[in-house]
Amino acid sequence: MEFKIATIPGDGIGPDIVREGCRILQTIGKKYGHKFIFTETLAGGVSIDKTGEPLPEATLNVCKASDAVLLGAVGGPKWDHLSGDKRPEKALLGLRGEMKVYANMRPAVMFPQLSAACPLKPEIVKNGLDILIVRELTGGIYFGDRGRSEDGLSAWDTEAYTSEEIARIITIGFDSAMKRTKKLCVIDKANILETSRLWREVTESIKGNYPEVSLSYMYVDNAAMQLVRNPGQFDVIATSNMFGDILSDEASQITGSIGMLASASLGESGPGLYEPIHGSAPDIAGKDIANPLATILTCAMMLRYSLNCEREAAAIEAAVYSVLDAGWRTGDIAGDALSDKIVGTRKMGDLVVEALEALEA
Ligand code: IPM
Ligand code: MG
Repeated sequence: MEFKIATIPGDGIGPDIVREGCRILQTIGKKYGHKFIFTETLAGGVSIDKTGEPLPEATLNVCKASDAVLLGAVGGPKWDHLSGDKRPEKALLGLRGEMKVYANMRPAVMFPQLSAACPLKPEIVKNGLDILIVRELTGGIYFGDRGRSEDGLSAWDTEAYTSEEIARIITIGFDSAMKRTKKLCVIDKANILETSRLWREVTESIKGNYPEVSLSYMYVDNAAMQLVRNPGQFDVIATSNMFGDILSDEASQITGSIGMLASASLGESGPGLYEPIHGSAPDIAGKDIANPLATILTCAMMLRYSLNCEREAAAIEAAVYSVLDAGWRTGDIAGDALSDKIVGTRKMGDLVVEALEALEA
């Protein structure tokens, strides 16, 4: 097969890690007979510097014409002084909205080889940690009406959801649960928010289609607590844009390895948007020390969800596992690894390429 991949290296470590992701896809191409055609485009701070805009029209066009988009990271202190619509983050929101990728899949997985890095007590995570957060991505307070009064002394942001927006994300939550342990928790603030009450109503109207799924609801404040008290109770979580933003950071932190976590953002049809969940880490940009594994695992998600290549996705995951099993680490996940096993970005990419080549096709 031939696949058109738009790449957005973006800012900070973005270019370092996207480069490694592309190398892995090329290795997959050679091994399994696919052709990946990469088109690099501009977004984020670099784009502001070069074009004056965080998300140029040309970038959107390349993305929309692709089979999938691989994004590194955007943002950094250099652009922090810019206001609202001029900021690098605007590129992310623009891409999400324009590509209509309303379902953000954020797995929070603890890699057994890295369990020592988990900040929770071992007895709390003795059964491992494998949660899938399904975050609504193109609605709610991120996209609702916002503004300031004329005197500048009051401001508002609006949380609004239609039942249609809720139904499609809840359906993805149920479908994901069916592929996993058939457990879905919808997280909201239904004791206060009318939007949350609508989320519950819509969920109730859909649950009959999924009699095998055990469904629960939880208030977001309690969920934030339960995630550190007993994370093993969760399997699939479905939630709004804002709550998903917050809970996915918390969930990633309890895995102990934020440098390892991937994400996919999917729409009804059209290309998906793929990015590691970590940020642009400007302090280590270009130093060949960033961990490329989150991006490499993001490429696996791309193969699985957008390119219909499950075997290839599983091969990447197996290759990453074998590299970790062999003790190789980047600095962020080094723990008490032997110093001769601590490698940089390129070397980690090399190791995964070698592991992939060694796997049986
Ligand atoms: C994320 C990030 C973004 C968000 C920011 C950078 C706009 O935190 O992808 O979780 O809030 O969605
Ligand atoms: Mg976030």
